[in-house]
Amino acid sequence: MATGIQDVRAETGSHSIGFRSVAREFREPVGLPVEGRIPAWLTGSVVRSGPASFEPGGRSLRHWFDGLALLDRFAVQEGRVTYASRMLESDAYRAASEKGEISYQEFATDPCRSLFKRFVSAFSPRPTDNANVNVAPDGHNWVAMTETPLQAEFDPRTLETVGVREYDDGLKVHHASAHPHHDTGRRELLSYAIAYGPRSCYQLFRLPDGGRRRERYAQASVREPCYMHSFALTERYAVLTDQPFTVNPLGLLLSGRPFIENFRWHGDRATRFMVFDRAGGRHVGTDETEPFFTFHHVNAFERRGEVVLDICAYDDAGIIDALYLERLRAGERPPTARVRRYRLDLPARTVRQEVEFEPAFELPRIDYRRRNGRDYRFVWGASNRSPESDWFDQIAKLDTTTGDVVAWYEEGCHPGEPVLVREPGTDAGAEDAGVILSVVLDARRAGSFLVVLDARTMEELARAEAPVRLPPGFHAQFGRDLV
Ligand SMILES: [Fe+2]
Repeated sequence: MATGIQDVRAETGSHSIGFRSVAREFREPVGLPVEGRIPAWLTGSVVRSGPASFEPGGRSLRHWFDGLALLDRFAVQEGRVTYASRMLESDAYRAASEKGEISYQEFATDPCRSLFKRFVSAFSPRPTDNANVNVAPDGHNWVAMTETPLQAEFDPRTLETVGVREYDDGLKVHHASAHPHHDTGRRELLSYAIAYGPRSCYQLFRLPDGGRRRERYAQASVREPCYMHSFALTERYAVLTDQPFTVNPLGLLLSGRPFIENFRWHGDRATRFMVFDRAGGRHVGTDETEPFFTFHHVNAFERRGEVVLDICAYDDAGIIDALYLERLRAGERPPTARVRRYRLDLPARTVRQEVEFEPAFELPRIDYRRRNGRDYRFVWGASNRSPESDWFDQIAKLDTTTGDVVAWYEEGCHPGEPVLVREPGTDAGAEDAGVILSVVLDARRAGSFLVVLDARTMEELARAEAPVRLPPGFHAQFGRDLV
């Protein structure tokens, strides 16, 4: 690997060791030592894209979300596990490794450029193609996504980058989502995009499986668009959470500041739930509640004329600042989110917060294929054992019907997003019949491992030791056909 190679042993013992560049790639799969017993039925691969190189070309990126993307894959078959990884060969990565420059606008780091170049590029900002947030299966190739219009196709077997995904439509996109939904029954992807302008526009679109033409089915204009990271679907509705962390779009062009530093938190404004009819695109209504900040919706569903919406909520947008690398490396404790349940009474146009669950909870995953948009019971997430926890230090399973929590943890270990893999052929009603897979940072040994848990009991079944310490990631997907 050409950029940002750094391995740090001085911080062993603290989660902050995770926020250093990965030491190397493993382009050829390597077998991993396995402790415990992986269920024989578990076949497939955990595939991730995440920030893993933080000092490209000798210049430090500033924020966790800026890190250059590493694609990696833990492949499981017949109780054995292999690991492979490869840097996403985006233009941003190439510029950094070949020219030693940061040439694209990242989340919180701007390119190196002269005053003249800064002036010129203000009117044609080059969004990054450093797709380090999430991945999605899409036929033979998969796509890696960030929040710019540029998605990267890659081969999920070799992890080789194919190129930027092209769309055959005129959809105007400045800010995109790395959390599209997929409707298996209708065989379509659903997502949103924001177009900035004097009147900015939230747009909801659908894309048939295998298609390249996105169809916009709903839109709403907004004067100050918010930072938006995900959204919710029910069977009939799409819900956008319009939070009071907003930007003046003109400022984005002219301020000369990195993307996210143009957004401001307005604690005196409401967070608004904007509900759209999926079939006809009608804006059903907008309901307001107290201000909160969110990255991740957990799930939403309809019940007796209401939309029930579960969301990981922070008190404010302070989490964005807390995730600058300097602060993470100093071991500062970021603010935490809780799963809140809101009930939106559509006819009455009222919102009620029904419950806020303990403990701290992020990176939520559910039995997506069967329960997304429908009434459900369990959510798994990266969680904190106590208010004194500096970082995620347990994987929690929350029963949303009772508030009960069962968790897995190990001293000195910091798990990432838990991915549920259902056991094939199990009862459609049993949301937790399967395993949880998560990539865990072991700060004591400056290493990482893939842990396999029984999703019912949260007891550890097995672990496979990775050949290198891996930075904490965001999101992973499981491909059953990838071995
Ligand atoms: Fe996310």
